[in-house]
Amino acid sequence: MTAAVVPPTVEVHLGPGDLRRALEDDVRVGLSAPDKWLAPVWFYDDRGSRLFDDITRLPEYYPTRAERLLLQTQAAAVAERSGADTLVELGAGTCDKTRVLLDALRRRNSLHRYVPLDVSRTTLADAADGLAHDYPGLHVHAVVGDFHRHLDRLPSGGRRLVAFLGGTIGNLTPDQRRRFLSDLDGVMGPDDRLLLGTDLVKDRRRLLAAYDDTAGVTAEFNRNVLHVLNRELGASFDPQRFDHVAWWDEQASWIEMRLRSTTRQTVKILDLDLEVTFDAGEDLRTEISAKFTHQRVHDELQQAGFVVEEMWDQPGGDFLLTLARPGC
Ligand code: SAH
Ligand code: AVI
Repeated sequence: MTAAVVPPTVEVHLGPGDLRRALEDDVRVGLSAPDKWLAPVWFYDDRGSRLFDDITRLPEYYPTRAERLLLQTQAAAVAERSGADTLVELGAGTCDKTRVLLDALRRRNSLHRYVPLDVSRTTLADAADGLAHDYPGLHVHAVVGDFHRHLDRLPSGGRRLVAFLGGTIGNLTPDQRRRFLSDLDGVMGPDDRLLLGTDLVKDRRRLLAAYDDTAGVTAEFNRNVLHVLNRELGASFDPQRFDHVAWWDEQASWIEMRLRSTTRQTVKILDLDLEVTFDAGEDLRTEISAKFTHQRVHDELQQAGFVVEEMWDQPGGDFLLTLARPGC
């Protein structure tokens, strides 16, 4: 007998009002700082999520392909080692690569529930609909939330595999990573497992090309945050007066994306009653994307309380998947 499609459910911990308050706070602090910055979470409105999806198919952007390949070769081992009945995914986006994990867990006959968490409600709801339809019998329970604040709201019980893929952990500052990993360790039970995807340090030219593609999609993704501020906060940014910059910080081992003001200009942010002046050539940092070594991933997990069980990479060494259990 074939299983019936289970209608997906959506749990909302970040309503429009919460998002708006968080955006206001971030913009006020980030744009008033001596070195201006914005948090990367604000890229991902509907358009930003679509642009990121386009990025994942660019010839220069290797991480998605590399991670998918790793998942295809190692998903059976991950399923076996975790024995999970629930797959939780943080920053799930379109949940595309997740299908490889879902297939492997299904083959083991252990999977009942998939819990994707993301700030981007529409992208999440669309993905949940598609997955519920394609995986009859699977309960897709989407959580609209912030992985910095809502880890304790994730449904508990059973054996959970918590996946944090795509290298998104690299978009957190070292302090944020410490806090995030230790919070995650705190909410996981002894039978839960973490599957972490991290991008690895590699040739500088390949790294820079991945964040500055010839078709200009990453530049549009970067400028999208200015469109978000214009729409949400009544700001007067002219995105064309900011150049997209990708920069490799060897010391910190991360790529920085910046928007560089082409002229001296003053931008009004009506809803915050704020005026922000940019000098010609002044940068606004919009993202860091840290690149790791095996040792660093191991050390950061250990410092947060996790025990590393397995690490998988491929011959080229582009990307790393790590399976870890909480220290408890
Ligand atoms: N995991 C997918 C998508 C990566 S893009 C992949 O591997 O391809 C990063 C995703 O994280 C986006 O969907 C974005 O909306 C989400 N995101 C960014 N910051 C977040 C936060 N603080 N809390 C929850 N989701 C977040
Ligand atoms: C989601 N995150 C892991 C991407 C990255 O590579 O840091 C976001 C991105 N920024 C530019 N291109 C893709």
